[in-house]
Amino acid sequence: MSGSAPITLITGIGELVTNDPSVGDGSPLGLLREAALVLDGERVAWSGPAADAPAADVRVDLGGRAVVPGFVDSHTHLVFAGERSAEFAARMAGEPYTGGGIMTTVAATRAASTDELRSGAARCLAEMRWSGTTTIEAKSGYALTVDGERRLLEVSRESTPETTFLGAHVLPTEYAGDRDAYVALVCGDMLTACAPLARWIDVFCDRGAFSGEEARQVLRAGVAAGLLPRLHGNQLEHGPGAAVAAEFSAASVDHCTHLTAEDVAGLRDAGVVATLLPCADFSTRAPYADARSLLAAGVTVALATDCNPGTSYVTSMPLVIALAVREMRMTPAEALWSATAGGARALRRDDIGTLAVGASADFAVLEAPSHIHLAYRPGSRVVTSTWKSGVCVAG
Ligand code: NIG
Ligand code: FE
Repeated sequence: MSGSAPITLITGIGELVTNDPSVGDGSPLGLLREAALVLDGERVAWSGPAADAPAADVRVDLGGRAVVPGFVDSHTHLVFAGERSAEFAARMAGEPYTGGGIMTTVAATRAASTDELRSGAARCLAEMRWSGTTTIEAKSGYALTVDGERRLLEVSRESTPETTFLGAHVLPTEYAGDRDAYVALVCGDMLTACAPLARWIDVFCDRGAFSGEEARQVLRAGVAAGLLPRLHGNQLEHGPGAAVAAEFSAASVDHCTHLTAEDVAGLRDAGVVATLLPCADFSTRAPYADARSLLAAGVTVALATDCNPGTSYVTSMPLVIALAVREMRMTPAEALWSATAGGARALRRDDIGTLAVGASADFAVLEAPSHIHLAYRPGSRVVTSTWKSGVCVAG
């Protein structure tokens, strides 16, 4: 501990989840009771029993509340305009989700001013902070023009460094007769304009979107431009998405609602994270992804919101955790790990999703004695404050 940053002691922590298996109870959650955390500026400097805590400049007593690592929401479509509640109501009345509504959001997003996009993103981000999220990934994909995609990434970058170019979200109507020309645009001028603003390249490889071969073309071009691959796959039906993710050793394949045992083995062997989006399954009335088979096979599972106006107008990671526990049969401990450390793996980050010494001091304080309350009390305000880089940002 050194330098001019204040040393802050967070004490009175009834249950501390560190995600550092070398401390505490030896489980993947690295759980300590009656604990304290010491922050040196924006980093974790110490954790251990409260009785052994060192002196500090500032002392915060949490009165027995639980502390968990800040949620890492590794899949969001943060920047968009408009809403599609009528489409949701139609689905609840029996209409299937086809991805066709994406063009409704594209039209609204193209027509919106940059300030409108910025204030919509800020509203969602504020909700995320209040529910304990400290890192998000944010995708483009609702403009589908060179300047429009670049604008979405510029706005996204104001909120996060984890930005993803998703020009291959769906084929825009104006290219209906010429798929190849659109894929060439995505891999050419659009990528050139967007790559400097993105860390990741993504493609929606599914029925009604892009084929396995088109997805390969997009990922190949993105990787050649210096981006890291991830993709949307296996949401609407069983298709080649997960296999393409394995071929490219992608960081993550997201949705995974329809996987075969072969896909699962391929993801494990290639070290691809399976990011599950239970609120998208909820809002499209799809079957829930089979988390238990993935976990049994040894695949790393992440959980994220997929925040977007079509399939998951959700900003709350506690709700994601509750659905993962109730509907996907993950244990509360597995779901919490996947929503924090799992998300960090999906973003190839080792400085977040954990409260190990040296990690970013990103955490959520719960109005509860244990992390189990996140799933046990869905819809309640269980997160009472959120800290990012050692600073309280909500609560
Ligand atoms: O992740 N599946 C593709 N993209 C989004 C949905 C986009 C929309 O319907 O607007 C998703 O679910
Ligand atoms: Fe998505």
